[in-house]
Amino acid sequence: MAKIIDGKAVSTAVKAQVAQEVAVLKEKNIVPGLAVIIVGDDPASRVYVNNKKKACEALGIYSEEHALPADTTQQELLALVESLNNRSDISGILCQLPLPGHLDEKKVINTISPLKDVDAFHPSNVGAIMIGDYHFLPCTPAGIMELLKAAGVEIAGKRCVVIGRSNIVGKPMAMLMLHANATVTICHSRTVDLPAVCRQADILIAAVGKAGFVTADMVKPGAVVIDVGMNRPEGGKLCGDVDFDGVEPLCSAITPVPGGVGPMTIAMLMKNTLMAAKLQNAVR
Ligand code: GUN
Repeated sequence: MAKIIDGKAVSTAVKAQVAQEVAVLKEKNIVPGLAVIIVGDDPASRVYVNNKKKACEALGIYSEEHALPADTTQQELLALVESLNNRSDISGILCQLPLPGHLDEKKVINTISPLKDVDAFHPSNVGAIMIGDYHFLPCTPAGIMELLKAAGVEIAGKRCVVIGRSNIVGKPMAMLMLHANATVTICHSRTVDLPAVCRQADILIAAVGKAGFVTADMVKPGAVVIDVGMNRPEGGKLCGDVDFDGVEPLCSAITPVPGGVGPMTIAMLMKNTLMAAKLQNAVR
């Protein structure tokens, strides 16, 4: 029977630590603040943004939401980001993605001050991660590293396969595993014989965006399986990229969906917001 890695419990511990540090900052009259921008009315984005706001509230972090209509212009959005860059009460800025098609995500990300970029999407933060010299880590990969640590998974020398090459998860995930001395392979839609590559993994990380994509024939017995998927089939309930029922009996440890990686993403966002406030106030 696989160990079920409890993202809820680990995220609660991370958030408790953040809350404690927020309280210490408050004694110095510093209150971390997160500005969340959401454009349009994508229902999944609305859920994520609400959860981020709730987490801030619970930890004593100030938050404000900027909900903009779907027809917001690029100029208006960039002007908002600039104004948030210039506010001393805002430590972190997050623009919920995806943006409506007429808006240029890259330009928006590039406009967020790297010191307030709590998603770690700005090219200068991405570059910092590449060379292993960073302040912010992207929330989902950083949360996965915390889960592996909490579950006592040894990484050094292990074979890690990441399925998916997005800028948000796949690429930074591979980099963090490399920094932890894993031997890393990134698979994607053009990978030849993907199941055979996945079967080599001691640690298999699925960030594909397709429900039930990882099946038992793709998993080496005893592997650790991390499911980043957040798929909502039409009318169905939230499910991951891994066929949990088929894979769980095979592996040594696995994250469930929900209750695995998802809660960690928000916990790490809180940690980054705290870090941003410390950086801007020169608190060590
Ligand atoms: N959309 C899906 N995941 C994320 C995330 O981590 N950050 C932002 N800003 N948008 C997202």
